[in-house]
Amino acid sequence: VESNLAERRRWNNDLWATAWPKRERLTDAVTPLVLDAAALQPGEAVLEVGSGGGKLAIAAAANVGPTGSVVGADISAPLVALANERAKEIPNVSFVVADMQDGRVAAEFDVAMSQFGVMFFDEPATAFANIRAHLRPGGRLVFACWQPLDRNPWFAGPALVPFVAPPAPPEPGKSPTGPFTLGDSAHVESVLTRAGFTSVARTTHDVVATTTLDGVMDDAQLTIIGIAPSDMAAARRAVDRYLSRFRNDAGGYDFPLAFQIFVATFVAT
Ligand SMILES: C[S@@+](CC[C@H](N)C(=O)[O-])C[C@H]1O[C@@H](n2cnc3c(N)ncnc32)[C@H](O)[C@@H]1O
Repeated sequence: VESNLAERRRWNNDLWATAWPKRERLTDAVTPLVLDAAALQPGEAVLEVGSGGGKLAIAAAANVGPTGSVVGADISAPLVALANERAKEIPNVSFVVADMQDGRVAAEFDVAMSQFGVMFFDEPATAFANIRAHLRPGGRLVFACWQPLDRNPWFAGPALVPFVAPPAPPEPGKSPTGPFTLGDSAHVESVLTRAGFTSVARTTHDVVATTTLDGVMDDAQLTIIGIAPSDMAAARRAVDRYLSRFRNDAGGYDFPLAFQIFVATFVAT
C-alpha cells in the first residue's frame, strides 16, 4: 500500500493556498514557544517537517543566522509553493516537497522541528525513525502537537459528522492519521523510543487564540473535507452554532488551544 495516500491527496488540494493563510492565525502564537524549546544556535542546520506555509522555517532562519540554514519539507505542493513565495528574499531557507515518512532530504541536521506537522503519518514509528536518520548523533527533535480532542473544543470536526462519511479504517499495519493522533503522551513516548530516540521530555501548553471564524473553518476547508455543495449552507450553520460559545464582545472568537511540545534526543550506540 502506498504511504499516506489519503493525507497526500488532502494536503495537495489547491484550495489550501488560500485557506491556509487564514488558518495560520489560529496557531501563530505557538511559533515562539516552539522556537524557545528548540533554542536554536547560530550556525545550526535545521530540518522543519510539515512546514506548511513556511512561517516557522522563516523565523528559525533568523535564529540560526547567515551561517545556519533551514530546509522545510512538506508533502503539499501548493503549501511548498506558498512557502517558497514568502521566503524568496531569504537566502538561508528553502522548501522541498517530500513525504517525511520515507522521503530523504540530502543533508545532515542538528535539529528537526515541527509545528503540528507530524500527526499525519500512517506509520508513525517508521516516520520518526526516518526523521531521526536525518539528525547527526546528539541532534534534537522538537515538535508541537495537539493534546487530545476533548481539550481542543475549537476543532469543528464533531459538528460536521452528519455531513461526511466516516474515514475508512486504516489498512493492516497502518495507523489512523489526523490532528489528535499524538494526543496521548505515553503513545508518543513509545513511538519516539521505537524510532530510536533515547530521551524524551514534554511540556504542556494552554493558550487562547483570538481570531476570526474563518481562522478555524472557511468554505475552502469545508470543500476539502468533502462537504457536498448542497450541504454547504447547513454545514456552515452547524459550525457557526458549534463554535458560537467562543464568540467575544468584539465579534471575533477566543479559542482555547491545548498542545504539547516534545523535545527528543538520541545518543548514537
Ligand atoms: C496542520 S499543518 C501545519 C503547517 C505548519 N507547520 C503550520 O504550523 O502552519 C500540517 C502540515 O503537515 C504536512 N504534512 C502532512 N503529512 C506529511 C508528510 N507525510 N510529510 C511531510 N509533510 C506532511 C501538511 O501538508 C501540512 O502542511
